[in-house]
Amino acid sequence: MVLLVITPTENGASWRDAFRKLDPTLDVRVWPDTGALEDIEVAFVWRHPEGDLARYPNLRAVFSLGAGVDGTLGDPLYPRQVPLVRMVDPDLAVSMTEFVIAAVLRHHCDLDHYAHLQREARWEKRVRPSAAGRVVGVMGLGALGARAALALTALGFEVRGWSRTIRTVAGLETFAGEAGLSAFLAATQILVCLLPLTPETRGILDAQTFAQMPRGSHLVNVARGAHVVEGDLIAALDSGQLAGATLDVFDVEPLPAGHAFWHHPRVLITPHVASLTSVATAAILVVENLRQWRAGGALLNVVDVQRGY
Ligand code: NAP
Ligand code: GLV
Repeated sequence: MVLLVITPTENGASWRDAFRKLDPTLDVRVWPDTGALEDIEVAFVWRHPEGDLARYPNLRAVFSLGAGVDGTLGDPLYPRQVPLVRMVDPDLAVSMTEFVIAAVLRHHCDLDHYAHLQREARWEKRVRPSAAGRVVGVMGLGALGARAALALTALGFEVRGWSRTIRTVAGLETFAGEAGLSAFLAATQILVCLLPLTPETRGILDAQTFAQMPRGSHLVNVARGAHVVEGDLIAALDSGQLAGATLDVFDVEPLPAGHAFWHHPRVLITPHVASLTSVATAAILVVENLRQWRAGGALLNVVDVQRGY
């Protein structure tokens, strides 16, 4: 089987070496050294050049390096009849949970405020509510969101979750769909976004959403930049409706020099690092999924292309 690695922004050779080591029967090539286009049966992709996946007439499956497939499906020439497999790796969920906990605790413990006081050499104490008195709302209760939500409940936070269809997660109050959104937001003091980017969720973090949260709430966006209406977020931060935001993802990445987020006193920026796919764990999952499929089994973690996730 010929597997083409198309990851122009990542180290394609390290994926090739891992795949080859795990399954020496695979003929692994790294884009742009494709060989004959008709040889390619499977592609492993991240930020592939637009239209490229339409060039391989015998392509039978596409694997995404990332959990989010918005970039792959955002290619208008993506061959939509070819199954797309997204990355579901427990290691990704563990590192996302670490990041979400760090961001939530930073807001919960007022660490930004104390960093500000330190710059002015001021010794002033603030009382903070107990975790049980702080409501954290997690948007998206999938592979990443559900695990992060559970970890937050273990820390004692009052956690609520919101998804497209209603989900039952132990210890969480759950809400679903547009009908459940207002009730979900009404008490949420720290909002964590772990939604996929789809036509339904694009721009969901807007003025209307922020206005429904208690004044002085915080936002943690670790999903996709295009979930945020940037002007609305800046206005909410400037007015005090939101007290702070941790932003790991941006509509344009890298975040352009001069962007208003860079120097906003209430924004912490991280460069899309909340959870990075690890070659060591993810290559094993890809090769095992491929092995079972070649043996006649079904591919795991296939995306619903119509739904967009
Ligand atoms: P997932 O398993 O597909 O879960 C998606 C969740 O979002 C599900 O609970 C789903 O609802 C919910 N959802 C989808 N559309 C919705 C809508 N219109 N309204 C309400 N809820 C909706 O995805 P995942 O693996 O947890 O990953 C989530 C996202 O994290 C990825 O798509 C990616 O963008 C982002 N991510 C970021 C990083 C980073 O480093 N910053 C790393 C990895 C992933 P149902 O349960 O009803 O289906
Ligand atoms: C990273 O953003 C991913 O989708 O895995």
